[in-house]
Amino acid sequence: MYTQTHQNIQNWYRQYGRLDLPWRNTDEAYYIYLSEVMLQQTQVKTVLERYYIPFIERFPTLKHLGEAPLDDVLKMWEGLGYYNRAKNLHKTATLVDQLPTNIDELIKLPGIGKNTAHAVAAFAFHQPVPIMEANVKRILCRLQKLRTPKDKELWDIAYILVDKLNPFDYNQAMMDIGATICLPKNPKCEICPLDDICEGKEEPLLYPTKKIRVVPTRVQNILLHVYDDKLSLTQREGKFLHGLWGFESVEIPHCAAEYIGEVTHAYTHFKLICKVYLYYETSPEQIDYFSEAEIQKIAISKVDEKIVNLYSNFLKYDYSYEPTAEVVTVTT
Ligand code: ADE
Repeated sequence: MYTQTHQNIQNWYRQYGRLDLPWRNTDEAYYIYLSEVMLQQTQVKTVLERYYIPFIERFPTLKHLGEAPLDDVLKMWEGLGYYNRAKNLHKTATLVDQLPTNIDELIKLPGIGKNTAHAVAAFAFHQPVPIMEANVKRILCRLQKLRTPKDKELWDIAYILVDKLNPFDYNQAMMDIGATICLPKNPKCEICPLDDICEGKEEPLLYPTKKIRVVPTRVQNILLHVYDDKLSLTQREGKFLHGLWGFESVEIPHCAAEYIGEVTHAYTHFKLICKVYLYYETSPEQIDYFSEAEIQKIAISKVDEKIVNLYSNFLKYDYSYEPTAEVVTVTT
């Protein structure tokens, strides 16, 4: 079944696929697992340029990862976001030295969902199973003219379509076809290797139905305690960004605090606006203070990084404490 389509996909992949991605040139389950977790949250380019290789160099095996302090892992993850994923990766590494080959066993590990388990099974263990990444979902919807399919429906189709003789190349190819041909807005159906079996090719934009997402905005007041040119940060304990160092969020800023500007950040489920205030302490009232150089060495979130930048720029450009160049005297 689908022999010709599989052949077309394989030919296309050999000619146009991103064959040189490092996680496509390894059978090491840990590396594949790591790449999948990283790729869930950011683009191939970013993972490739900034995260994948340094992470592997720092933690070359699951054992190294499991034995490392969580703070070090978070530091290597800094900027990628979704820090729970890094914590789950670390947790898994403390539980096993080798990843299991069985999908049901993989799913039992922290942070390994159905898709990651399938990706590890297909890419590391060459099992004849499909994967279900966002681009692949779009292809399946168009192939079968599905507007709002349930997950089960998509998995059933994916299992029927998968190339059981070469699941590795097939799955990698499907992702590349989704990323370069079966595009959300301007699909290039005329050069698609799946065109002979695609039912939705006349009106591909109808499938799947676009979800209109309205994300709420949250506003926070951030109070930067400054003492001796250093900023106070504490290690977060709540569920959100747990383990990362961060600045204090307050209901009402201190009356002696100075407003220095705002930073915004788009999370998946909400948009955050941080209004940032500076408070110069005359004696240390907090526990830990860090210079800007020291902040570089601890793990902080993207928003807190933006806040540090706002603060540095404020210091660079704030002349409010210097005499003005021209003094205008008004006489009455
Ligand atoms: N996204 C998720 N897995 C991927 C892979 N193996 N290659 C490229 N992008 C991906």
